[in-house]
Amino acid sequence: MTTTDMQATPDYAAILETICAEVQPLLSQGKVASYIPQLSRVSGYHFGMAVYCLDGQTFAIGDAHQKFSLQSVTKLFALALAFSREGDSIWHRVGREPSGNPFNSLVQLEYEKGKPRNPFINAGALVMTDILSSRFVQSDIAVLQFARLIADENCIDFDLAVAQSERETAHRNYAIAHLMKDFGNLHNPVKTVIDSYCRQCSITMTCAELAKAGGFLAQHGTIPWSGAQILDASSAKRLNALMLTCGTYDAAGDFAYRVGLPAKSGVGGGILALVPGELAVAVWSPGLDHTGNSLAGTYALERFTTLTSRSIF
Ligand code: DON
Repeated sequence: MTTTDMQATPDYAAILETICAEVQPLLSQGKVASYIPQLSRVSGYHFGMAVYCLDGQTFAIGDAHQKFSLQSVTKLFALALAFSREGDSIWHRVGREPSGNPFNSLVQLEYEKGKPRNPFINAGALVMTDILSSRFVQSDIAVLQFARLIADENCIDFDLAVAQSERETAHRNYAIAHLMKDFGNLHNPVKTVIDSYCRQCSITMTCAELAKAGGFLAQHGTIPWSGAQILDASSAKRLNALMLTCGTYDAAGDFAYRVGLPAKSGVGGGILALVPGELAVAVWSPGLDHTGNSLAGTYALERFTTLTSRSIF
């Protein structure tokens, strides 16, 4: 295959059909997250996928128009919002290295003196919530408004039952927040930060909305349909780099090997991935693998980059 062949526009509709058929046997193999009781009520048999091309074309398949809990995918929105407002000063309080530990681990935080490895593990996300809580009246509302802006959709909202369910079981996140407070890396009250974080994680979107929301990161920081600049191109490049190295928990290395795209996942089973300069793609399937990433979703993205010959490598 020549370089020219590889760059021809793929038949996205046909490719999504193929992927949707291929993932069916995998849907029974993942495990729906149960540590937030409300999340365990979702069937593991859902699969949806949507592609938002920067020229405005959208392709969708399966449950691509059904809402799901974004969970940690919202950490990307919180980071983008904090980075756009505070710039490089955020790096005094959070690092930019993969943690090599589960997303909710406390161990590293103790010996690294309360500075989280990156903004996508829970500790780092709680620091982002803290930064936004100092800047806005309510961090979760600021993130929700940001999500509505980048998805061009005003009906995006919290799922308050999921937020409540997470708050009731958030012992580990409380422990992380208290430890950081002790190290001086949390400026607002622990309860304020945890409440906002749980509401933020409960935001729901469809795959079609999420793919569109990723448009500005695929288009170097600028919203494709309005031309509004959220981040400068250099900052967008940096967030893409963080997604690649830290966006899929402790499995970022394997994900880069298999999929080859910057991505952010959540325990609701959603994954947003980007082909910079070309498109954003969102996938949802609630059954997770042992690393906490959507099992069918990761496979779908692996097939997507193979069948379209798209990857950043
Ligand atoms: O903090 C939690 O446990 C969830 N609300 C979010 C977890 C998630 O999606 C994975 N985090 N990186």
